[in-house]
Amino acid sequence: SQSHLGDPSSAVLWLWLQPRGLLAVSLPTADIISTVEFNHTGELLATGDKGGRVVIFQREPESKNAPHSQGEYDVYSTFQSHEPEFDYLKSLEIEEKINKIKWLPQQNAAHSLLSTNDKTIKLWKITERDKRPEGYNLKDEEGKLKDLSTVTSLQVPVLKPMDLMVEVSPRRVFANGHTYHINSISVNSDCETYMSADDLRINLWHLAVTDRSFNIVDIKPANMEDLTEVITASEFHPHHCNLFVYSSSKGSLRLCDMRAAALCDKHSKLFEEPEDPSNRSFFSEIISSVSDVKFSHSGRYMLTRDYLTVKVWDLNMEARPLETYQVHDYLRSKLCSLYENDCIFDKFECAWNGSDSVIMTGAYNNFFRMFDRNTKRDVTLEASRESSKPRAVLKPRRVCVGGKRRRDDISVDSLDFTKKILHTAWHPTENIIAIAATNNLYIFQDKVNSDMH
Ligand SMILES: *[C@@H]1O[C@H](CO)[C@@H](O)[C@H](O)[C@H]1NC(C)=O
Ligand SMILES: *[C@@H]1O[C@H](CO)[C@@H](O)[C@H](O)[C@H]1NC(C)=O
Ligand SMILES: *[C@@H]1O[C@H](CO)[C@@H](O)[C@H](O)[C@H]1NC(C)=O
Repeated sequence: SQSHLGDPSSAVLWLWLQPRGLLAVSLPTADIISTVEFNHTGELLATGDKGGRVVIFQREPESKNAPHSQGEYDVYSTFQSHEPEFDYLKSLEIEEKINKIKWLPQQNAAHSLLSTNDKTIKLWKITERDKRPEGYNLKDEEGKLKDLSTVTSLQVPVLKPMDLMVEVSPRRVFANGHTYHINSISVNSDCETYMSADDLRINLWHLAVTDRSFNIVDIKPANMEDLTEVITASEFHPHHCNLFVYSSSKGSLRLCDMRAAALCDKHSKLFEEPEDPSNRSFFSEIISSVSDVKFSHSGRYMLTRDYLTVKVWDLNMEARPLETYQVHDYLRSKLCSLYENDCIFDKFECAWNGSDSVIMTGAYNNFFRMFDRNTKRDVTLEASRESSKPRAVLKPRRVCVGGKRRRDDISVDSLDFTKKILHTAWHPTENIIAIAATNNLYIFQDKVNSDMH
């Protein structure tokens, strides 16, 4: 079926599915959501926040009594992943904020994920328990040792059913691998290794080894005064375990092959768009900095986000992007004030849908944008409680730039730059998206999809 993004006459509109557990969680304002990540089948969704907490949501199974309940996500588990720390050597506070979460492919009944703050990566194991052993010989039910003189006969402990309990335990701590701030982690398709990237270096870790990592990229100049570029994001190729990409603050992408050399300082491909000289300004370099890079599910393309655009790159074409989409071109004339209020340094993420045909990214005023690569249609939607009641259909929004203004249009000057959608995730196989708007999580599903169920 053809998609008609944002066409009000078509049935493909976005519906707000309120995760029922969310109201119960009611995240306090201090805890701004800092990352969102679906697991590989989309049944679980993890969020990390500024307070170092991880909240996991689980999709409810379909129920006959409540036909609309399918697709709703409930809180499954909440745990404290990172605590604030102090680096005494450098006299620096290390924030507990979770920068990234990555799920590991499930290998047994337990789920595992990696979470990272600026410095330390942790591997967590999440298990379910619905039975507990009773009738120990030497301990009582509270676990206290019994007075041995009262133990007169030998009994066999039995497993008794109990309410489902989700237990989260730290399995490994990968510390001391980074001098600078970690911006990305990515699990390799070999399922045995992962990498972590900071401003100047990328390390490769074995998931079972915490005390050493291999440095695979190092762009630190001998003299820090010669520093002109930093690493902004990095990801492994989804199918070829030897390939990875990293993006830079100068707007370039480097594809590296670990088979070519242990230290990948010489990239195998450099993707860069030549700058249009007529557009050069004081802000050119800042706005071309890549804030996110994502391989398509097929592995053929890469998606990048810079301040004003999202770009699709073909792995076989280095000279320019295959497609460029304007996210909010109306801000081009406002760069000076966006520089003054620091918004120009905001790091927006981007996401592919499951079939790589639609891309999504965030903007200001709690707006987010979707671009259909086939039909070239695009839509602006808003994540807010005021504009969307649960199970209501989202109305496309429009920003007007001078000229004639339609009803419901919002003018560029009334956009709220404190409300920004930086973190988004798309369900791997269905049209379900998760949007983090400051301390609120919104889950939207397309209407066609939900009506079919
Ligand atoms: C994602 O989570 C669901 C729900 O627990 C689980 O059934 C599924 O196996 C997980 N997928 C992967 C690939 O880990
Ligand atoms: C140059 O600026 C115009 C608008 O002023 C924009 O439409 C165009 O995409 C820009 N070109 C590049 C290469 O960024
Ligand atoms: C990607 O989006 C298009 C357009 O809405 C839709 O037809 C397709 O089913 C989506 N793919 C997946 C796997 O969700």
